[in-house]
Amino acid sequence: MNSLFDTFVLNNGLKIPCIGFGTWQTPNGKVAADSVAAAIKAGYRHIDTAAVYANEEGVGEGIRRSEVEREKLFVTTKLWNKDRGYENTLKAIDASLLHLGLDYVDLYLIHWPANKKQFLNCDEINLDTWRAMEAVYDSGKARAIGVSNFLVHHLEKLIGKAKIKPMTDQIEFHPGYLQEDTVSYCKRNGIIVEAYSPLGTGKLLGDRELKKIASRYDKSVAQLCIRFALQKGVLPLPKSVNPDRIKENADVFDFIISDEDMKLIENVKKLSKVGCHPDEVTW
Ligand code: A2P
Repeated sequence: MNSLFDTFVLNNGLKIPCIGFGTWQTPNGKVAADSVAAAIKAGYRHIDTAAVYANEEGVGEGIRRSEVEREKLFVTTKLWNKDRGYENTLKAIDASLLHLGLDYVDLYLIHWPANKKQFLNCDEINLDTWRAMEAVYDSGKARAIGVSNFLVHHLEKLIGKAKIKPMTDQIEFHPGYLQEDTVSYCKRNGIIVEAYSPLGTGKLLGDRELKKIASRYDKSVAQLCIRFALQKGVLPLPKSVNPDRIKENADVFDFIISDEDMKLIENVKKLSKVGCHPDEVTW
């Protein structure tokens, strides 16, 4: 990958720009609109939001404010958990499109799998929801469909019965939390892995070992983590609302992390999961 315009290719042939602009925890309204507009100005072409982030309006406003044509942008949103099931999913995509002010999204994701902790029939719920995602895809309201927070056992159950294979799985991924089983399963099955919290929601940035490695390239820890994801074949979604940091996070194409340093980063100690576990959540 050499620039923000470079792409991964989804299993339906659709190109997805190699770094996405994350918007989790970005407040709706001016902050979302300004930061999305700043990101597009800085060269990002891929914006990631979700119904539950409650900022789809601001994100849509930022997209409209930019002068880049809609076809040149890649926009993702996600189905929230309360909207699982066939009929609800069909309504939820319409609500998201309305909030975003768009006719279609490029990628629509099931945000979290239904799990056993909450539902005896969780596999059935996930399949029913997926069938609606397939209908959304067939209708053209989403140019690609996928999942988020699905582990191998969720994916296996879905893929066994799905008409269309998920095109992406968006999971927590960063130094200290590499989810190797899920990543290698996805790679074997032609599913692009997207990394949310590639900076560990910012918690990795003070890590001494990572700082030492980053300094060898004259780069920040944030840039190191983003580059690390790309070199692992994973698509990072760094979030920032600050124009300088937005630019900084895109300036990752003028260095290559050596194999030796990749190994060191893979083995950094003391860092671990920062988010919730898909089999444990109760919402
Ligand atoms: P801010 O939005 O104020 O820039 P992640 O992408 O792993 O979820 O991390 C996002 C967090 O890291 C946010 O708190 C964000 O704050 C912060 N952040 C993003 N980019 C940088 C950067 N280059 N340097 C320092 N902090 C950053």
